Amino acid sequence: MAKPTPVHAPMDQFAQQANQLLIGGHTLDDIARLLDKAVFYAYDTSVVKAQIDKFHQHIPAPIKLHYAIKANPYAPLVNTMRDWVEGFDVASQKEMLLALQTGMPADDISFAGPSKQEAEIEAAIVAGVTLHVESALELSRAVSLGEQLGKKPKVAFRVNPAFELKASGMKMGGGPKQFGLDEEFLFDWLPTLDYNTFEFRGFHIFWGSQNLKVDAITEAHTNTFALADKLVKATPVPTRTINIGGGFGIPYFPGEQRLELAPIGENLTALLQQYPHLAALELIIELGRYLVAEAGVYASRITDIKTSRGHTFVMTNGGLHHHLSNSGNFGQVIRKNYPVAIGNKLGDGFEKTLVTAVGPLCTPLDTLADKMALNDPQLGDWLVVFQSGAYGPTASPQDFLGHPHVHEICL
Ligand SMILES: Cc1ncc(COP(=O)(O)O)c(C=O)c1O
Repeated sequence: MAKPTPVHAPMDQFAQQANQLLIGGHTLDDIARLLDKAVFYAYDTSVVKAQIDKFHQHIPAPIKLHYAIKANPYAPLVNTMRDWVEGFDVASQKEMLLALQTGMPADDISFAGPSKQEAEIEAAIVAGVTLHVESALELSRAVSLGEQLGKKPKVAFRVNPAFELKASGMKMGGGPKQFGLDEEFLFDWLPTLDYNTFEFRGFHIFWGSQNLKVDAITEAHTNTFALADKLVKATPVPTRTINIGGGFGIPYFPGEQRLELAPIGENLTALLQQYPHLAALELIIELGRYLVAEAGVYASRITDIKTSRGHTFVMTNGGLHHHLSNSGNFGQVIRKNYPVAIGNKLGDGFEKTLVTAVGPLCTPLDTLADKMALNDPQLGDWLVVFQSGAYGPTASPQDFLGHPHVHEICL
């Protein structure tokens, strides 16, 4: 018999007690008291640690794990993760300073992103952070700024591979892209460079993000090793590091399941055996949301309830301005619901009401959950959006319409 489609993506990563959701052992009421705020993001660091442990359980040991800070740059979280990962990937000068101030060695920090400004390149050179160079002009800028500063820039080349990530997810390689240097270009260009003018580190082969298909990821890894092999051979100086990308997704929407890491790890083990000269290099996987998204909830209080032409709307003190991605306006084509529940009424013993949950913004885009059966939603209850630990406050238009910014806490 076919299984019924689940109503939600998994949301079983937190403990609960007497129908109350617990984040780091605290009820939502207690977190509100701790913060003196009735709308917040709360991150459970034990869930982050469990994801990291799962990574190491399945991914072969020589491959290092880096955290892409853009997914969640909340400083207490990044500080906590400092000892749990082997490096940070940053996308701006601000993220770079945050990474450095955790005490992570500069040697284990890389700075990627198109259109780096001179001040950012200078800061990376001064700090000794590796620049993931995304264009030929960016390399010549880095070299001349390095000459002015009397310090060679550390450089890796971000590669726009010819292959594409298959299946769903966000493709960031293959075809014309603003990211990285096309692999065809690199094969001509690499032999022509003056490697005395910079410290060559290696290659960054990043092909995509938010992928839940094992086959697509293993195929991308297989293609990545084949490409890395050719790039290393085409480079006249030794390669030290290959960043083999990231892309591990997490389940957000009904019907999605957690990514199985075992077959991905088995494929990587086979690739390490197939390419022993690559296995001897420093190999890195960089992950953002896979490490943090499931560890976070966004909680707001229901402050009004009304019926319009037979449909019930629950209204809260939180919305799109705090959580753009949950509203469906951060990369979704058709809006789907994140997992949402009444955080103080978990379990089966409640009457369900079909509602649409909305925020305080004067736009129909401000939807927290659409036509969802929730456990007896009442004024004062906690509406909780799960899978909210990545691309939350910093990926949201917090000043839109001038409502208060959201608070965060790590527990
Ligand atoms: C270069 C790079 N690294 C890492 C990431 C993080 O992706 P995710 O949070 O899906 O792991 C991105 C996402 O855009 C990226 O562009």
